[in-house]
Amino acid sequence: MTQNIYDDDQFFKGYSQLPRSIHGLAGAPEWASLRALIPDIKQQNILDLGCGFGWFCRWAAENGAEHVLGIDVSERMLARAREMTRDGRIAYIRADLESLTLQTGRYDLVYSSLVFHYLENLQLLMGEIYRSLLPGGAFVFSVEHPLTTAPIRPQWQVDGGRRVAWPVDSYQVEGPRSTNWLTDGVIKQHRTLETYVNLLIDTGFRLAHLQAWLPTEEQLREHPDWEDEKHRPTFLLVSARR
Ligand SMILES: C[S@@+](CC[C@H](N)C(=O)[O-])C[C@H]1O[C@@H](n2cnc3c(N)ncnc32)[C@H](O)[C@@H]1O
Repeated sequence: MTQNIYDDDQFFKGYSQLPRSIHGLAGAPEWASLRALIPDIKQQNILDLGCGFGWFCRWAAENGAEHVLGIDVSERMLARAREMTRDGRIAYIRADLESLTLQTGRYDLVYSSLVFHYLENLQLLMGEIYRSLLPGGAFVFSVEHPLTTAPIRPQWQVDGGRRVAWPVDSYQVEGPRSTNWLTDGVIKQHRTLETYVNLLIDTGFRLAHLQAWLPTEEQLREHPDWEDEKHRPTFLLVSARR
């Protein structure tokens, strides 16, 4: 059963104050790179897994998608998504991705941003996603990078008040990590890069692009506050095709 931490009072308050929650896609440092992996979405049927506040759903509709379905397990995230959405092409439903069944051959694009590292069982979902895509359909997603999720006690190494390194341990030990992010005891699942890639290959997907996201020099000039993120890849971005 999922932890559904996004419905926790303290976590939700903290998450609501993050730049990506206030400014949407423009406040997500990896969005430009993820955006580059998304094919033309005009007249397309799109599924957003773990849609959160629905920023991507609204972006997709504004950019010509025919229909967008956003799925999330958090009532609070979905309530905020519904409040911010006035578009008949977008629908939201509440469901747990750990036990989701999807319609066969329905979607041109399945998208998911920063959700899969919360899931214990990704194999079942991968199969559902593959089955729900039309032949040639695209699957684009991001997760916290395996080098970021690996440490048993995730903690920056600090020197002179500055974050200087992200020590990595237990890389091969897959499974839950308890982190204190926004509130104590947030459970994320660590997987190696091979596990992500082999899950895709074994499901039948064709890999199109992999990217370890770190801020570019240009982004750092514009956002000096992202300096810490240059020490290790924060996100893994993946594009695959059915
Ligand atoms: C980091 S937020 C990302 C939200 C959105 N995709 C974005 O990028 O703005 C993670 C989202 O995944 C959802 N989530 C986590 N575990 C889930 C599960 N088992 N089933 C459905 N949604 C889940 C959370 O409720 C939350 O809205």
